[in-house]
Amino acid sequence: MKKIYNFSAGPAVLPRPVLERAQAEMLDWHGSGMSVMEMSHRGKEFTGILAKTEADLRSLLNIPVNYKVLFLQGGAIAENAMIPLNLLGGKSADYAITGGWSKRSVEDASAYGHINVVASSENDHFTHVPAYADWQLDQNAAYLHVCTNETMSGVEFDGLPDSHGVPIVADMSSHILSRVIDVSQYGVIYGGAQKNIGPAGLCIVIVRDDLLDRASPLTPAVFNWKDQAENHSMINTPATYSIYIAGLVFEWLIAEGGVAAIEQKNIAKAKLLYDYIDSTEFYANHVAVNNRSRMNIPFFLADERLNDAFLKGAEAQGLLQLKGHRNVGGMRASIYNAMPMSGVEALVSYMQQFESTHS
Ligand SMILES: Cc1ncc(COP(=O)(O)O)c(C=O)c1O
Repeated sequence: MKKIYNFSAGPAVLPRPVLERAQAEMLDWHGSGMSVMEMSHRGKEFTGILAKTEADLRSLLNIPVNYKVLFLQGGAIAENAMIPLNLLGGKSADYAITGGWSKRSVEDASAYGHINVVASSENDHFTHVPAYADWQLDQNAAYLHVCTNETMSGVEFDGLPDSHGVPIVADMSSHILSRVIDVSQYGVIYGGAQKNIGPAGLCIVIVRDDLLDRASPLTPAVFNWKDQAENHSMINTPATYSIYIAGLVFEWLIAEGGVAAIEQKNIAKAKLLYDYIDSTEFYANHVAVNNRSRMNIPFFLADERLNDAFLKGAEAQGLLQLKGHRNVGGMRASIYNAMPMSGVEALVSYMQQFESTHS
């Protein structure tokens, strides 16, 4: 099989041992004679898989007992609408705009109530998170929404603002499980699975118990967090195969030493790439140093006329999906948990080689 490194922002590279195990278990899961895809979601085999998947996620993120873990569908974009439906309860909400995804969250949420934009870096092309001291927070807001890693522009939060007790709702789609977090600092954490968790089709919502009684009666049952919590995420048939693969990813991550250990690897991988970009005029990353994402690293060639040649040469060397997001342009290397250091080394070596032949 051709050796490649996949830098896609999502759906994204999965750990090889996970894919191999899924392959081995594809036709006959643990002697059941069935593929996980064929199992009833209410049968003992699948309910066992779901329980283990949740327990492993709880242990990886050290999720306190007063938080529910929901395995939903519709992706993070569905949650953009479901967050206000579940949480507004007649109040307004605060949102920070730090990139394309949080901007989209504001647009989607605005259909359901009054949204205050408390900070925005849009005028600076989303190259930093505005200083927390300047955020115009409302202490009576129902919640404060943030996207703690902006996948398109590669901006990651450095700490959190002090919300004075207002629950923080965080879209962590593209960096969940990449670094140690304190779940108790958040009211809600949510994210689509297709980066550090598993295949698309699954959205994880981690919600504090006391926030479960605020939903508008208009909230669809499959997106009503309280209903889903009471029904073990089975109001409808959950994304069973995606949940199974997520469970294998969690087992892999535990075997790798957990989140603290993968965080050290992620720091080293990102440092290698940023250090090289900073060492040359040929490439540039425009994000403020303390907000540079460890997961999604956009970069630009000084001479953008070389973009096509860069991508073509990269592909020829098995370095795939490096094209930047269409709203941002340039290149983007997404280096999630499953990207090995050797992939980043191969990328940097190609970038050096391209530079020397084109400057
Ligand atoms: C930070 C962030 N939020 C939201 C989304 C949208 O997720 P989905 O397509 O799963 O709805 C993405 C997708 O890449 C993302 O990166």
